[in-house]
Amino acid sequence: MSTTTNRAQTLFDLTGRVAIVTGGAGLLGFHHGAILAAAGANVVLLDLDVANPAMRAAQLTDAHGPECLGIAADITSEGSLEAARDIIVDRFGRIDILINNAANNPKVEDQKPGQPWSRLENFPLQTWNADIAVGLTGAFLCSRIFGQQMVAQNSGVILNVASDLGVIAPDQRLYRKEGLPEDEQPVKPVTYSVVKTALIGLTRYLSTYWTAHNIRVNAISPGGVFAGQPDEFTTKLHALIPMGRMAHKDEYQGAVLFLCSDASSYMTGQNLIVDGGRSVL
Ligand SMILES: NC(=O)c1ccc[n+]([C@@H]2O[C@H](COP(=O)([O-])OP(=O)(O)OC[C@H]3O[C@@H](n4cnc5c(N)ncnc54)[C@H](O)[C@@H]3O)[C@@H](O)[C@H]2O)c1
Repeated sequence: MSTTTNRAQTLFDLTGRVAIVTGGAGLLGFHHGAILAAAGANVVLLDLDVANPAMRAAQLTDAHGPECLGIAADITSEGSLEAARDIIVDRFGRIDILINNAANNPKVEDQKPGQPWSRLENFPLQTWNADIAVGLTGAFLCSRIFGQQMVAQNSGVILNVASDLGVIAPDQRLYRKEGLPEDEQPVKPVTYSVVKTALIGLTRYLSTYWTAHNIRVNAISPGGVFAGQPDEFTTKLHALIPMGRMAHKDEYQGAVLFLCSDASSYMTGQNLIVDGGRSVL
């Protein structure tokens, strides 16, 4: 095998590395974990107990080989994260990769007539606080708590999962429902844009903060994933995407593996937008 052929494999090889994925039992987090496990990493899925991270981690081990671990943890709780860190370090001895993926994804399509909670004028402070707590404060706490283990090791990679809505405004026409008055039309919640934009800021901040410790920090901004949304919604969304379709749920795996592996060894502080071209329009 030539040196270059060999390098094509070693650049993406994660054998012996330990990777944490928050929200790892959810739709995309599980697929992010799967590609890291397939590349050889011991993957730790951190998620709320209700999402059954232990069962999902067992599926990764069965499918890919490396020992994977599911830990029930609430990323808004320092105590819960410190306990998780202790379990991970006891079991694997290190933390090499952190994907800050967990977020609240409030479903505006479930909004009931006469209760337009998603609209800015009505948006509950409690929902604002809850969304910021998971999507932003959770990423800060995980970076602080797991990042210090990386500092002690003098290496590591953090990947923050932002969104195309971290770089463009939501097009609220996508969420409109026939027959509802203007002041009852559902909208993409303000917290989604705020959390995702702020994660890109957190990415830049951390990337220069820990460069001396060889910790790279990048963001990925995925576009929408098809997960059975109604035709009325997808038809409007497809028209806004140059590639004319939403993403498949495993379609971010290549970018995630690139950003978490040595293939991106000279890249830090950046936001990789993977959105079928939506944000270039
Ligand atoms: N699905 C998409 O179309 C899409 C598009 C762009 C970006 N994203 C982003 O990708 C990420 C994953 O999205 P998804 O569609 O897989 O969502 P999802 O709702 O399926 O997964 C989110 C996971 O986070 C977990 N979680 C929530 N609160 C938590 C807490 N306090 N502690 C620990 N875990 C917690 C949930 O239990 C869930 O398993 C999110 O950041 C989302 O904003 C998704």
